[in-house]
Amino acid sequence: MPARHLLTTDDLALDAINSIIERAWHFLTPAGLHTNTLDTLASKRFVLAFFEPSTRTRLSFESAVQRTGASCVHFSEAGSSVEKGETLRETIRTIESMGFDGIIVRHAENGTHAMIAAQTSMSVINAGEGTNSHPTQALLDASTIRERYGSIDGRRVVIVGDLLHSRVARSTSSLLSRMGSEVAWCAPSSLAPVDASSMTRRFDSVESAMQWADVVCVLRIQRERIVTDVVPDVDDYRRLYAVTHELASAYPDVSIMHPGPVNVGVELDETVLDMPQCLVHRQVTHGVAIRMSVLEHYCRSITI
Ligand code: CP
Repeated sequence: MPARHLLTTDDLALDAINSIIERAWHFLTPAGLHTNTLDTLASKRFVLAFFEPSTRTRLSFESAVQRTGASCVHFSEAGSSVEKGETLRETIRTIESMGFDGIIVRHAENGTHAMIAAQTSMSVINAGEGTNSHPTQALLDASTIRERYGSIDGRRVVIVGDLLHSRVARSTSSLLSRMGSEVAWCAPSSLAPVDASSMTRRFDSVESAMQWADVVCVLRIQRERIVTDVVPDVDDYRRLYAVTHELASAYPDVSIMHPGPVNVGVELDETVLDMPQCLVHRQVTHGVAIRMSVLEHYCRSITI
């Protein structure tokens, strides 16, 4: 019996990771996604419960639900009984009592997903957990790199930016390293990762990183961290860590990725998004396909 919950990719064997990616590729075309609707999850019912803002993850899970023949409703904290003091535990029990098969959750607090999984018979799919994990982002990043290069094994990947606060950095570095990539990081000391065990080296500037890397994964600098001790001056930050138009032009063979949303003019120049080496929008397309595959993997045999 396959596991019911996707909490982290660390729980997934490499065979399962590769089969999720290979299944996702059935849904992709060179320019986008197949338009047909499947019935692999017909009659399954999902709740999308996002306690933090999202564009890509929320819409792509909703699209994945529709494309696999399932249905979903949205739970939003605003306007719900959480505003009247109902606990998260009781909210989850209430949702489960309505007969849903799965709950797709984004929450700011680390540990929330495991807490929900421990109390529910619904399948729990992690759509972003605090600073800890974002497993479907890691899977879509791996899928995008594998499509671009044919293999992840041996690829040199550098993660640039706010690794300290980033669940994407944690999940993607761990997964790519398990799949055979050499992963490095590049950030000021104030944004260094808490745990760099899946990363083998550090670069002091994105330019030196681009001399080494096949792929640069740029992370968002949260605007609230600019003009603080963490990022005191945006021009100083850009000088060492931004992927500018000039830098991207100087290294046309280095692929550029970003989980989004992009702070244009901070960590990435807007024109870079249109360069042939930029995979940012292809990542979004892989996000739909990967989430279709994830839902099939975890929820096809669920009955509650
Ligand atoms: N990459 C990502 O999680 O984007 P959203 O916050 O828009 O979902």
